Amino acid sequence: MSSKLIIALDFPDKTLALNFVNQLSPSNCKLKVGFQLFVAAGPDFVKQLVDLGFDVFLDLKFHDIPNTVASACKSAADLGVWMMNVHASGGDKMMQAAKQALLDCNSSAKLIAVTVLTSMDQAQLNSANVHQTPENQVKHLAKLTQASKLDGIVCSAQEAEMLRQDLNEDFLLVTPGIRPFGSEKGDQHRVMTPALAKLAGVSYIVVGRPITQSNEPQKVIEQINIDMS
Ligand code: C5P
Repeated sequence: MSSKLIIALDFPDKTLALNFVNQLSPSNCKLKVGFQLFVAAGPDFVKQLVDLGFDVFLDLKFHDIPNTVASACKSAADLGVWMMNVHASGGDKMMQAAKQALLDCNSSAKLIAVTVLTSMDQAQLNSANVHQTPENQVKHLAKLTQASKLDGIVCSAQEAEMLRQDLNEDFLLVTPGIRPFGSEKGDQHRVMTPALAKLAGVSYIVVGRPITQSNEPQKVIEQINIDMS
């Protein structure tokens, strides 16, 4: 069965990232490339990961006018990535244009949306003139994403159970903020274990430091795959 674990490759450069990736197998994890590594290592590196056989989630959170986001999604699809994302707050027209761009190039890449960044609390939403609770805003944007025919959302595992009630069963919930039992929280505040995340209806979990900074990454990966199966 395909792994539900996406490892966040939060490394400052290609060499460090590759040293780590060389210990991994595409059969027991997927990889997430975010801004830091993408800006440092570039699209060729993403392609290299794809060529090694990994499912790659390109986490660049596109947010621009519909035409520009659609073009960026097409470029990401051309790299052969498995998943990519946009900001749901870019609106339904933007999300629909992004999805259409993938359909037009016959890409099977999954397109998901970020609803409300977990760094946005009530005060931060208000500062952007959004006078909704973070929970209501997440619910609203999750439904807008589903209505725009995207494949899923990035959300907190704490929100997953509540969101699942309003969303289709096959709509993907991809959640960071996961910590295996006993591991360091780091700067994550509201964390959940892989097993509880699965119970909450999460589709894929994103885990970074508990694996990338472990002395025995293989062991951690193995245990997470057991917990998520
Ligand atoms: O090391 P850690 O497991 O905390 O890494 C989590 C990953 O998920 C990081 O790449 C982080 O940027 C990303 N992420 C997050 N919280 C969000 C969205 C993305 O931690 N709300």
